[in-house]
Amino acid sequence: MPDQNVRILTIDAEKYLETTVSARDSVLSDLEKHAENYKIPILGPHVGSFLSIIARGCGAKNILEIGTASGYSGIWLARAAAANSGKLITIENDPKMRDIAEKSFKKAALSKFVKVVLADARDAVPMLANSRKAKFDLILMDVGEKKLYIELLDDCVRALKKGGIFIADDTLWHGSVVVPTESDPDTRTMRNFNKQLLKDKRLESVIIPIGDGLTIALKK
Ligand SMILES: C[S@@+](CC[C@H](N)C(=O)[O-])C[C@H]1O[C@@H](n2cnc3c(N)ncnc32)[C@H](O)[C@@H]1O
Repeated sequence: MPDQNVRILTIDAEKYLETTVSARDSVLSDLEKHAENYKIPILGPHVGSFLSIIARGCGAKNILEIGTASGYSGIWLARAAAANSGKLITIENDPKMRDIAEKSFKKAALSKFVKVVLADARDAVPMLANSRKAKFDLILMDVGEKKLYIELLDDCVRALKKGGIFIADDTLWHGSVVVPTESDPDTRTMRNFNKQLLKDKRLESVIIPIGDGLTIALKK
């Protein structure tokens, strides 16, 4: 793990930004408390709002998420998909997390807009990329095994429609990516992933310093 003192924004900036996110309903705020109590790494309300604005704004109907956890980010995305008469497919390999997520989607009255796939992303994502039917308007990469960001990048780009949006969470890895002395495996993986994205001629991408660093890329 990176040095605990390494951060992207100052503590004051983080506190201020927290006050600028609009109020969430009880399903989301309960999941925020649950994540804090059980140390589930959800992407939080700031990034959640950002995802929702992007997904709604680009009219995303078919959305893919890699890394469901308790369904927190999935709720932000599924609400956007539902508003666009679309659907979210979300992939998770932990059956306990899948069960929690299904309950969360039910509580949020979103079950009919979400398909939770219990599978290893390294199997499920290439299958979706190779399927002619599945073409996504938006893909969120937030899988716990960070090396899959690199392994599955090509499949994600292939699974996206032209003009589709690829978003990856954690790309500054708590800020450690920018500190040369930080060299834990996940920090190195994220540096390599960021380099790979920049080189990919199919994408135009930018890293935004919110949450743990969020990359947003357009498939040209
Ligand atoms: C960072 S959490 C996802 C958080 C969620 N997107 C949110 O913000 O609410 C990452 C999730 O990826 C799952 N995961 C880890 N390795 C996986 C794999 N190989 N295939 C599918 N899911 C995996 C973990 O079980 C964990 O629930």
